[in-house]
Amino acid sequence: MGRNEELFERAQKTIPGGVNSPVRAFRQVGGTPRFVSRAKGPYFWDVEDTRYIDLIMSWGPMIVGHAHPEVVEAVQRAAQTSFSYGAPTEGEIELAERICELMPSVEQVRMVSSGTEATMSALRLARGYTGRDLIIKFEGCYHGHADSLLVKAGSGLLTFADSTQNAPSSAGVPQDVVKHTLVLPYNDVTAIEEVFQNQGDQIAAVIIEPIAGNMNLIKPSTEFLSAIRNLTSKYGSVLIYDEVMTGFRVALGGAQSLQGISPDLTCLGKVMGGGMPMAAFGGKKEIMSKLAPLGNVYQAGTLSGNPVAVASGLKTLEIVSRPGFYECLTGQTEKLMAGLKRAADEAHVPFAVDSVGGMFGFYFAPQVPSSFEAVTKMDIEAFKKFFHAMLDQGVYLAPSAYEAGFTSIAHDNEVLDAIVSAATISFQKL
Ligand SMILES: Cc1ncc(COP(=O)(O)O)c(C=O)c1O
Repeated sequence: MGRNEELFERAQKTIPGGVNSPVRAFRQVGGTPRFVSRAKGPYFWDVEDTRYIDLIMSWGPMIVGHAHPEVVEAVQRAAQTSFSYGAPTEGEIELAERICELMPSVEQVRMVSSGTEATMSALRLARGYTGRDLIIKFEGCYHGHADSLLVKAGSGLLTFADSTQNAPSSAGVPQDVVKHTLVLPYNDVTAIEEVFQNQGDQIAAVIIEPIAGNMNLIKPSTEFLSAIRNLTSKYGSVLIYDEVMTGFRVALGGAQSLQGISPDLTCLGKVMGGGMPMAAFGGKKEIMSKLAPLGNVYQAGTLSGNPVAVASGLKTLEIVSRPGFYECLTGQTEKLMAGLKRAADEAHVPFAVDSVGGMFGFYFAPQVPSSFEAVTKMDIEAFKKFFHAMLDQGVYLAPSAYEAGFTSIAHDNEVLDAIVSAATISFQKL
């Protein structure tokens, strides 16, 4: 038995499923999860000292590469003066100012410790602000694991649960809670128009992944986004852009900067903490001022704005703001996708690719899907074989066909060539 197997067996005794977040368990693809011992740049090493090219990058945060020396130094410096105070610091102001500068729709921002907390708090705020209960989310979008958002959710829920029913995707979520959540198909303009016509004055918020990354990568159409923005404005509902994944990953100003949409609230996480537990929600001052201590919408956190996480986030945002960062990241990601597509074509495997900035999707399907329904029709068996063939050659893909992939600035040409060579062999094995 190898060391990964040993650790997996041991982990399962004290940790449910052996993991602290479900998709890590390899349940869709089968086999033994790799237990990581260290990482650097685009690589990580498992406990057997096997090196992998990392294409999940902690599911998004590690955009400047693992253990970037400048980020490590900033974190070490912050850690020397204690890890947490539970009182405000200047670093939090700097981070808030930086976020507001980079995302002009965000006038004020509140820091939290996870994307789940960000979306959960943004929804409460939207409900408190509007005095309404109903929210709209879209099929296949994942916004963290707050009760009201676990309906037809993507990511691990799509991997594990029967998400085909219009019911909670998870046990333990009362029907009573999700009755306030309306779930509509992504990219379906008519559906959202109809709902607003019928009950627009009861809708507190529409929450959307502006580029969906939890049902693989799915882009929204321009008409869909315009309809959402226009309808929410017309009916006084709050438009919440969940940019936990896309924020500072698809572009410096997030998906909203590429789409020319100004949401009312934005949720952030992942890249903004550079790999530390750090997230935020922010937006219009008029809405944000309803939060305690100014307003009557309560929200709080012992570790919110944690100084070590702030140091990591600030340094990461400084690095991604350097000239040419996103041009390079986008170019490299596109090059990788073109290489994978070429390799699949050579092997006559039906395969499609897409990417935005440092986020990508590949699909065992003849064309890029544009809906949750299309995603569920992909060839999952082909994906599983491909995943393992790539893993055997030292390339670590997301262990589920329903997840987007992530590159970093450290994924240079040599790394891309190695991935494409591995893919060429892997496609031939399908
Ligand atoms: C779009 C989106 N929102 C929210 C979340 C939840 O973030 P966290 O896992 O930090 O709670 C995720 C996590 O993957 C996400 O992708």
